[in-house]
Amino acid sequence: MGADVGAPDPNRELLDLARRIAVSAGELAATRRAVGVEVAASKSSAEDVVTFADREVEQFIRGSLADARPADGFLGEESTDSASVGTSGLTWVVDPIDGTVNYLYGIPAYNISIAVVEGEPDPQTWRALAGCVVNPVIGEVFTASDARGAFLGTTPLHVNPSVGLSQALVATGFGYSSDVRVKQGLVLAGLIGQVRDIRRIGAAALDLCYVAAGRYDAYYERGLNPWDHAAGALIAAEAGARVTGFGMAAAGRDFTLAAEPLLAARLEPIIRALFDDAGL
Ligand code: IPD
Repeated sequence: MGADVGAPDPNRELLDLARRIAVSAGELAATRRAVGVEVAASKSSAEDVVTFADREVEQFIRGSLADARPADGFLGEESTDSASVGTSGLTWVVDPIDGTVNYLYGIPAYNISIAVVEGEPDPQTWRALAGCVVNPVIGEVFTASDARGAFLGTTPLHVNPSVGLSQALVATGFGYSSDVRVKQGLVLAGLIGQVRDIRRIGAAALDLCYVAAGRYDAYYERGLNPWDHAAGALIAAEAGARVTGFGMAAAGRDFTLAAEPLLAARLEPIIRALFDDAGL
């Protein structure tokens, strides 16, 4: 983090493209939602569904990116079997509708998440260059680019100042496998008495943006996919959060924690011990 406002942003065009496509994709998702949403298939479990709108929105995003930047790779939630590698060294990491279950039920907390990363499309090694998360229901557009800060619309974002554990509002999420959810529930039960309270809104990219915006003090989850956190993690980090996995690992499927750095350092060993106790 640390916006270098003097120098031009080398990732400006990438960010503008991500924003433009995410806003249009959000309009498409909201239009389809207004008509009614249908489940197209289930994925990892019966609870893990994909709607026809998820697929249509991803096709729209993928096609728009291919038109604008044919040499870039693509990694999207609904087309993992046909992820494209690209030749430019950049990959677009896309969740067409993050918060699919909210979308299905008409809960106004879903988003379109688009990030562009440099290097292998692996969260452990990639460098995120730009990201945009759009909640089309309330018209919120979160953006960030590498070393240029994070924004909600045109307003710069900053994480909350450090708070003690007992004052921390902490968000989390759960996986789609019921066995995993039970263990995640045990972790939550161990944590809830030590913090101010817990939130679970069901959309990881928004969770990360809400840390950036100071709406939560912290967010953690295990089991995230790259497209769930690629854009949101950059936005949180650019707003001053420490975004990590366990120990020295980068945020990813094994663990993602985002919080103001002192709070993150306090929370990490506590959450890690609770996961160990829960056998996860
Ligand atoms: C899910 C949401 C949810 C999180 C899950 C994600 P999806 O993404 O972000 O909040 O707890 O881990 O898989 O399936 O709605 O794109």
